[in-house]
Amino acid sequence: MDVTIIGCGYVGLVTGVCLASMGHNVRGVEKDQRKLATLQRGDCPIFEPGLHDLLTETMKNGGISFTDNVKQAVKEAEVVFLCVGTPPKADGTVDMSFLEGAGKEVCDALAELKNEWLVTIVVKSTVPCGTNRKLYNFLKEQVPGAHYAVVSNPEFLKEGTAVQDCLNPDRIVIGGESPEAFRMMRRLYDPLIKREDHFMTMNWESAELTKYAANSMLAARISFMNELTVLCEHYGADIEEIRKGIGTDSRIGPAFLRAGCGYGGSCFPKDVAAMEHISKAAGYESLFVHAIQTINANQKKRFAEKIATKLGRPVQGATIAIWGLAFKADTDDIRESASIDVIKYLIERGATVRAHDYKGMENMRAYLKEYADQIEWSADPVTAAAGADAIAICTDWPQYTTLPFRKIAATMNQPIIFDGRNCLHRDVMRENGFQYYPMGRPPVEKELRLKSRV
Ligand code: UDX
Repeated sequence: MDVTIIGCGYVGLVTGVCLASMGHNVRGVEKDQRKLATLQRGDCPIFEPGLHDLLTETMKNGGISFTDNVKQAVKEAEVVFLCVGTPPKADGTVDMSFLEGAGKEVCDALAELKNEWLVTIVVKSTVPCGTNRKLYNFLKEQVPGAHYAVVSNPEFLKEGTAVQDCLNPDRIVIGGESPEAFRMMRRLYDPLIKREDHFMTMNWESAELTKYAANSMLAARISFMNELTVLCEHYGADIEEIRKGIGTDSRIGPAFLRAGCGYGGSCFPKDVAAMEHISKAAGYESLFVHAIQTINANQKKRFAEKIATKLGRPVQGATIAIWGLAFKADTDDIRESASIDVIKYLIERGATVRAHDYKGMENMRAYLKEYADQIEWSADPVTAAAGADAIAICTDWPQYTTLPFRKIAATMNQPIIFDGRNCLHRDVMRENGFQYYPMGRPPVEKELRLKSRV
């Protein structure tokens, strides 16, 4: 099928490349000239495992090409995806200006096209309830004779596994009112549909809300576990044991129950905040989604405070190695990362920070440029730790688990690790001479076992 993708950011590019790999003829539209030039060269403007290879392959066989000409690209398509950003505004509401701009351009193209075939406009961007209906009505008013349909098709891919997620979706959600458009979307996604009931059609509002509900539910699970770490630390319980204890209940399930120093990224913080505004707009104060965000902000702060209180010396003048800047492993994305709060907290109290990440260093350097004098950027985690008063782990890069810890301990001013992601083994840390502080776990496993035997 002929597919046009408007907006080649994270979601748009991954969607376009995956659709091209399924045999569709894809045109990506990108207005940012630098990004467009990168894409036209066959380079990937973002780091995402597997994406560059798939882009190279699909460009080589002519499955995908890139342009900045919206009108032309829309005129050539049966399916037009709107994948432009819907970032949060300062007050937490959603900035719809990019989507409105893209909607107007599609409208102009439809006016000239006078098509007999159906053009299905697919809103992939995460948008508040009512947006798809508004777009449909806007087009009806502006181009009354046009043959088009609007569907909502929320995206659930995760950074770091985006290509895999896109090619192996748990479900495909399509919101709309046109059975003809539903059939078109069914045909488009056919190679990915392993079970018929995983291709779901519903109305626009349900599809829009499904996206916010999914992210809020996942964020809620994390915040609940994070809140439990407070109780664990007070009563001497172990959050990892509790995770297994509840995750094996088939009604609860094991996913997204890992406690840590707080969630981040481009989606959870934005979508949970938007959910609160959507509730307010409906005249309802959602205590639940408000609590998810408060707990997350508190968790980041609590982790920073733990470093300050357990450091065994004043923070003023201390050197802290921060291992991990990205909001999670396998991405260079630092948006809303817990490391930002921790770094700012420590620097504001007079510490020097040595920062390390496997992919996110450049992004963080640009983001924290006003703190440039207090941050040293380390090429590897071992160098970051040398002479430091503590290590704080903010991202669970698997590489951090296999480092030469005995050697690292010997080079530190004081061998202390604050593990904000519970990714290291407690006993191994102690055996290597570290004072080890995990999240919501007794620092030493053996002592816990002994205690429980008494
Ligand atoms: C999320 C959703 O998972 C995805 O469906 C949606 O399309 C976009 O938002 P993403 O932001 O890429 O994906 O990352 P995800 O793997 O969900 O992690 C988000 C944050 O939650 C990270 O900071 C991660 O460290 C944290 N997290 C995740 C936990 O703290 N505990 C967990 O158990 C899982």
